[in-house]
Amino acid sequence: MNAQTTTSTELNDGLQELFGAAAHTTPLAEGQHMGVRVHGVDLTQPLSASQAELLVRLLDHYSIMSFPDQGSTNGFRLRYLERLANHFGAPIPHPKNYANYIEYKKHGVPLELPPHEKQTASLCNLAFPDDIRCVEDAESPAVYVVTNLPGSGPDQQEQLASGLHWHTDIEFEPVPLSTSMFYVQRAPTSRNAQNGTWVDDVPPVEGFYHPDSDATLNARRLALPLNGETAYADTIRAFADLPDEKQKELEQTMVRRRLRVTDPGWLIPLVYTNPRTGNKSLHSPIWASRGKNIAPVQIDGLTDQETREFLDDIEAHILQPKYRYDHVHHAGDVTVWSNFATVHNAPPAKSIINCADDARLMYRISCKGEPSYQLPRPDSDEWLANNILPPYRTPDELLQTG
Ligand SMILES: [Fe+2]
Repeated sequence: MNAQTTTSTELNDGLQELFGAAAHTTPLAEGQHMGVRVHGVDLTQPLSASQAELLVRLLDHYSIMSFPDQGSTNGFRLRYLERLANHFGAPIPHPKNYANYIEYKKHGVPLELPPHEKQTASLCNLAFPDDIRCVEDAESPAVYVVTNLPGSGPDQQEQLASGLHWHTDIEFEPVPLSTSMFYVQRAPTSRNAQNGTWVDDVPPVEGFYHPDSDATLNARRLALPLNGETAYADTIRAFADLPDEKQKELEQTMVRRRLRVTDPGWLIPLVYTNPRTGNKSLHSPIWASRGKNIAPVQIDGLTDQETREFLDDIEAHILQPKYRYDHVHHAGDVTVWSNFATVHNAPPAKSIINCADDARLMYRISCKGEPSYQLPRPDSDEWLANNILPPYRTPDELLQTG
């Protein structure tokens, strides 16, 4: 029995011991190590320290984990997702959730949430009011609503949006984001009669990728799923499969990450070593992961062009089909992924809809820092002030039972 089998068995044994006999895992995709479906775990209930530790170990092992049927008994509230997120790291509020983030950054005025009727959840509730209403606690600044509902409704003209580019969430800060998670309230169920997919193959947005990019790389970048799946690539396996010499070279490689071209930025290793498992992965090995918004990274010691060519080679490697997994979302799923062990992409989607079966309504929370098996987290005010912007700490009442 090899070490990996032993670990998977141990994790399954641990699940049954801590969550009951019905708890078990199944692969998210045959033939793909990354990704596990975790059955029999009720995330509406608080986790004991040992349960939380086991879930962190599961994510360390599988990089993506999905918990089906959450809230099927008593409904789901987003405080349960935020409580779960606190075990994995400190939740990061989304700047778009505030009414005045720019003024806050420029002039230091106190942050304010938008009035209730302008919050994303309220706008979602207007689209199909008899059919779709957001679950509770969507107004938390830590919750980012990923949806096509605002502006949609039975009388609207359908619109399509292309997929985005491959990236890692908030990889450009000194303490990068470690973990992201979705609660899925609605996933599109309608399928196009002609192709059997939710959307047709939408042409890509121009200007995402450098015009000198290799054709094979571009073909891999643009091969995106058409049923609203989140597309992932496994950067642990991709690293492990490289020749020893290449691994050693990459382990020496430092990347200068920065928000804007004019920022001095900071150097962090391209290869991330998980402190709990020793697993090595490629952390966001992508030259320009945010188009015009975020400055392209630089490899320490290389020119801009050398950097791009160096990272394009790695991107072509990690986007091979054998490292790819497209995650189909289902209503009731909580899906968690490691940003150190994956890169991901948003799929082409219907961005304005006129039929509730096309609704995509998911809530994302992202977090950073060390896991904490006990709650509330022990993050110091100073650490939060230095690493979480806008400043935020989950209020105690969201961590309580119920
Ligand atoms: Fe993302």
